[in-house]
Amino acid sequence: MSNPRHSGLGPESPSTRASGNRSRIKSGMTIVAGLLLAGCAAVATAQQSESAPPAQAGPPPAPPPQTLSTRPDASGGEALYVAKCAMCHGPGGMGTGLLARRMDTPLLEERDNLAAPFVVIAARNGIGNMPAIPRGEVSDEDLQAIAEYLAAGPHGGAE
Ligand code: HEC
Repeated sequence: MSNPRHSGLGPESPSTRASGNRSRIKSGMTIVAGLLLAGCAAVATAQQSESAPPAQAGPPPAPPPQTLSTRPDASGGEALYVAKCAMCHGPGGMGTGLLARRMDTPLLEERDNLAAPFVVIAARNGIGNMPAIPRGEVSDEDLQAIAEYLAAGPHGGAE
């Protein structure tokens, strides 16, 4: 006997017969599982073609973020605003979205009613869901420039 697995047992030994049965059962189950899967896939395909085309599912794509590279002409307070605030206050930003719930003009740059001291206090202390912006992130001087830029609005820069 050269095969160590079957040493001492012939080809028709109970153990090989049993494993033969098992593999028949196994392949039978594989076929059943395959049929079930195929059935599910068919149902899924049918359901898909009933509803709207998948390309139109989900929310519309977010507007591209505004950064200094999308607004290369910005300078001074405007550039600082783009660098430090526009990630939340640009079109589609989180700040814009939350402000839209309570004001007609959610973009800070389009406001004609922002006073510079209010902007400074809101940014330093945080306001509602906006986190406080520390001096390590935006210096007093830079925040003052941003506040003056916003107070001089409305600006069309956000479009
Ligand atoms: C992490 C996101 C985020 C950043 C960064 C951010 N803000 Fe805000 N900001 C918000 C959110 C959110 C609100 C709305 C808060 C609310 O209504 O709960 C808000 C509100 C404000 C308001 C209040 C407007 C009003 O009339 O009530 C001002 C002013 C403001 N932000 C200025 C700034 C300035 C200036 C910067 C940059 C120095 C800045 N924010 C950076 C998220 C941000």
